Amino acid sequence: MGLALKKPDDVAGAAWPAIMIGLFVAFGGVLFGYDTGTIGGILGMEYWQTQFATNGRDSITPAEESLIVSILSAGTFFGALLAAPVADNLGRKMGLILSCGIVFNLGVILQTASTAQPMFIAGRFFAGLGVGLVSAMIPLYQSETAPKWIRGTIVGSYQLAITIGLFLAACVNYGTQNRLDSGSYRIPVAVQFAWSLIIVFGMLVLPETPRFLIKQDKHEKAAKALSTLRRLDVDHPSLVEELSEITANHRYEASLSKASYLDCFKGTVGKRLLTGCLLQGLQQLTGVNFIFYYGTAYFQRAGFNNPFIISVITNSVNVISTFPGLYLVEKMGRRNLLLMGAIGMAICQFIVAITGTVAGTTDLAAQRVAIAFVCIYIFFFASSWGPVAWVVTGELFPLKVRAKCLSMTTATNWLLNFAIAYATPYMVNDGGAGYANLGSRVFFVWGSFCFICIFFVWMLIYETKGLALEQVDELYAVISQAWKSKTFTPTISFTEVGEKGEDGRSMSITDVVDRKASTGHVDQSYDGGRAM
Ligand code: BGC
Repeated sequence: MGLALKKPDDVAGAAWPAIMIGLFVAFGGVLFGYDTGTIGGILGMEYWQTQFATNGRDSITPAEESLIVSILSAGTFFGALLAAPVADNLGRKMGLILSCGIVFNLGVILQTASTAQPMFIAGRFFAGLGVGLVSAMIPLYQSETAPKWIRGTIVGSYQLAITIGLFLAACVNYGTQNRLDSGSYRIPVAVQFAWSLIIVFGMLVLPETPRFLIKQDKHEKAAKALSTLRRLDVDHPSLVEELSEITANHRYEASLSKASYLDCFKGTVGKRLLTGCLLQGLQQLTGVNFIFYYGTAYFQRAGFNNPFIISVITNSVNVISTFPGLYLVEKMGRRNLLLMGAIGMAICQFIVAITGTVAGTTDLAAQRVAIAFVCIYIFFFASSWGPVAWVVTGELFPLKVRAKCLSMTTATNWLLNFAIAYATPYMVNDGGAGYANLGSRVFFVWGSFCFICIFFVWMLIYETKGLALEQVDELYAVISQAWKSKTFTPTISFTEVGEKGEDGRSMSITDVVDRKASTGHVDQSYDGGRAM
């Protein structure tokens, strides 16, 4: 196993078009990160507070603040769920164009034009709806177009874009925070037009995913799309083979039953859906957004008075640490990287909890140790669970139900995102009845969830590195325990599945695997770079 990520010799065609397309689409992550990151700074702006205050007050009330912050998450949750019908009916490409061009932009227009709360709140809802739609469709588009040997890095780059978006929001807010005119909030909000227009115009020239076109029975268009992605002639043997695998896999799935939401909960798909939802839910429960939403106040208590410097530190660690993750996801594989990340995060969170609790808030040295470990925690998150949660959920599901399942796993991420944003002030502060006054002890909560993450990965995360999306079905059909998944080598081709067996009935994946095992014919060709 060399150090570089290298296209395997037996893969025909060019990899760069699909890589460039995947990286371009990742740009939607900037929309995600920027939109979630900008409100914290806006709430702190004097001009905005006075302008949007009600009933003659000079700032908005805590209840109003909570509504303004959380309405975005409500929008993202519903947006993620809507992503499935949109992506399955209009297509992945058109879905992305309309979500950014119409839904998200409507939200931005309303917020920019507003001078009072109702319109601003409506704008936050629509912007959230757009972000939710986009957040589920990007990994879908990327994983359906990327070459399998570098799919993890490409989908992971979506996370990189999220971190850059968060960082940019902190910078733009810093630039406008002291303005005493409507530019203070209108500029950071309106900047988002740029992100959405880049995606809309870019998507207009990019192809639809071949897998979606096959799902729609548009074979010629699918062949053309795949030929654009792989830079191979439509009748090149390698392209014909890839396309017939996708087609055969789709026919096989379609022959089993029609795809309904109920199918998402049955058999190995149900197990995969549970895995995806737990993965996204636990990603939030590791406490990352506690740092990004409420970390400033925590750091300030430790003697850092400039909130901007604080957010620059946490955001920079977040952006930079994503790079090793993009590399390691293909080198170590999804399972090992998630395990390493969970162990690292758990250790850091417990150290922060213990130092914070034992030393209290007055011991500056102890607080600085805690801050250092918060940064190391971010390193572990950004290089593992940050990107890999999106990578794994993008590649877990069969085509038939992929959009539906992915929309549910993404919605779980947003639901927990909302719950944590909403509950944290009540958990941490001492505001009387109804407040838990946990203070630094809140890190015990995040640490315990990180600990659960270790067991979760061990029990449920299958290694999907190097497999074609269609081969993930075989993986789940033949391997029943996640910890044995690294030994899996794909043996069957979907053009065989669905053929008539000796008894005259169509063969399932397991029938074909059994037949191969009994005749001793197991294809030991290229393993997709799974060697670990
Ligand atoms: C999470 C976000 C988080 C971000 C931090 C993403 O993967 O889903 O909730 O704010 O990472 O970089």
